[in-house]
Amino acid sequence: MINEKMLKLGTKRSIIREIFEYGKQRKAEIGEENVFDFTLGNPSIPAPKEINEAVIKNLERKDAHGYTSAVGDNKFREAIANDLNKRFNTNFKFNNFFITYGAASALCSTLRALLNKNEEVITFAPFFTEYTVFTEAQGGKLVVVPADKKSFQINFNAFVKKINKKTKAVIINSPNNPSGVVYSEETIIKLTNILKDKEKEFGHEIYLISDEPYREIAYGVTVPFVTKYYHNAIVCYSYSKSLSLPGERIGYVLVPDEVTDSKNVYAAVAGAARALGHVCAPSLMQFAIADCANLTSDLKAYEENRNLIYKGLKKLGYKCVKPDGAFYLFVKALEKDAYEFYKKALKYDILVVPSDDFGVKGYVRIAYCVSKETIINSLPKFELLMKEYKK
Ligand SMILES: Cc1ncc(COP(=O)(O)O)c(C=O)c1O
Repeated sequence: MINEKMLKLGTKRSIIREIFEYGKQRKAEIGEENVFDFTLGNPSIPAPKEINEAVIKNLERKDAHGYTSAVGDNKFREAIANDLNKRFNTNFKFNNFFITYGAASALCSTLRALLNKNEEVITFAPFFTEYTVFTEAQGGKLVVVPADKKSFQINFNAFVKKINKKTKAVIINSPNNPSGVVYSEETIIKLTNILKDKEKEFGHEIYLISDEPYREIAYGVTVPFVTKYYHNAIVCYSYSKSLSLPGERIGYVLVPDEVTDSKNVYAAVAGAARALGHVCAPSLMQFAIADCANLTSDLKAYEENRNLIYKGLKKLGYKCVKPDGAFYLFVKALEKDAYEFYKKALKYDILVVPSDDFGVKGYVRIAYCVSKETIINSLPKFELLMKEYKK
């Protein structure tokens, strides 16, 4: 008898993947340019040319395809520390970083390191759907705080009702997938003050896990760097979006010295990664990014896309949450059931993701990390869709 839970995870695709697969099939039928596929957060901007050059240069190394040490290459870890210290005026050292296979593996290793049986992890809707899978697979229970639908910041009244003695960690994601909202400094201060009070009240650590694959994708707003606000903050980062390298599977866990018993927490992350088989992240990528740790892709195109789609849809009468970062737009469905709305959009070959799995009803997510043409050519289709509701 095989593991039923894993069988279910492996056979029941996420709705995003399901729509994406449908899109592929539809593109083959009617041509790529006629399908407006806004499903996946797959960066459309290429990785910087310096990354490709660094990959080629590092291919010359004798150890280009060898294992690095389990925790990651020291030079790479040092380059990350230097870059963050410069940008955020922090004081990290190479040994605060554990190199991972992107944010997914960073999150799984962190959760596995922290969680004991029956402990709870809180997150805030709307949230990245995989948090449920990641938390439950590590033996925890994901508790979702309903959204503050006015601002899409944190619904603090609901949060204080959910936090309890079993709460071991809180996951935040800002800039947010799927809302595009960036948590303000006020939100981070309020959140971390509550966590500090609750740590005292319950007499144990409550870790703040900051999932930051979109940290560098922000449009004129500051993304507060959480380790400056809270001692028990752990950062899970990925180069999938900022350097457009999702297929290379590379990121890190940052465990600052300020974390209580930080050496043991770091060791537990390393142990968890070992137990999950996630050690020795891809070497060539570590060597290449070490040479250009201060770079990002040319992210301006996402801001242009944001402006095009946000203004375009608003002009047509759609209600949208204005994104300050990431590359997602959260749009109010034109009927109560977001799934029904998604199906109507399909008739116009517009592919969007209904919001239910993100923990909020009545919205759809548009991933606008697509070409400008896709956005421009989709607007007349969105207009037809709107007209259908006005009939
Ligand atoms: C919020 C969030 N967290 C984590 C991930 C996983 O990222 P990675 O590709 O680095 O594993 C994603 C990917 O889309 C994401 O949007």
